Amino acid sequence: MPPSEFPGGFTFNEFLIDDEEPLLYHTGLRGMFPLVRDAVASVLPLDRLRHIGFSHYEADECGSLNELLAAAPHAAPLCGELAALTSVQDVADRPPRMLQDGETLSLGAHTVQWLATPHLPHAWECGHLFETSTATLFCGDLLSQAGHEHEPLVEHDILGASESTRAEFDYYANTPQTGALFEKLAQTEPRVLACMHGSSWRGDGAGLLRELAARVVG
Ligand SMILES: [Fe+2]
Ligand SMILES: [Fe+2]
Repeated sequence: MPPSEFPGGFTFNEFLIDDEEPLLYHTGLRGMFPLVRDAVASVLPLDRLRHIGFSHYEADECGSLNELLAAAPHAAPLCGELAALTSVQDVADRPPRMLQDGETLSLGAHTVQWLATPHLPHAWECGHLFETSTATLFCGDLLSQAGHEHEPLVEHDILGASESTRAEFDYYANTPQTGALFEKLAQTEPRVLACMHGSSWRGDGAGLLRELAARVVG
């Protein structure tokens, strides 16, 4: 999204795990559907797609869910139990595969685990998906960096940029559980933090999550 449409510009990242049961994480906004459909189709035929996952129920995470379900006849929504019960069972055109907190799902060579994190950074149904073989944490909105031009994956500091974005937009819900939920994510010891907005980051993910927690919780 260029600065003419959003102050400073903003990016939306979708992630595709190509495996025996391919998984798309985030659909993007409904208006982005043709872009995302064509991007997935450039990697694999849409009828191979099995899972369409997302962190929480907002338009940028799952706005084109039904359009993608129509284009990918063997795919189903993949979400946490709360998202299924509060929204997805009702609005999705196909029933969701719902994951309990800590539950794992094998995709073939990769395995994903659902980590429920209510309200972290926002939405009661919020959670994050961890891929165990690459130690990649799909961390959704946690380290959102504004701006419309980002490298896909970096090793330099992103906390400064994400803290500027958090200061400007105040998108975190801080609850009594926030510190413990950050620690639950840190204990996966991720080596890659796959961010939804801005650059993804490679390094000591546990260390960066604990630094972020210290800033958020104080
Ligand atoms: Fe969000
Ligand atoms: Fe988002």
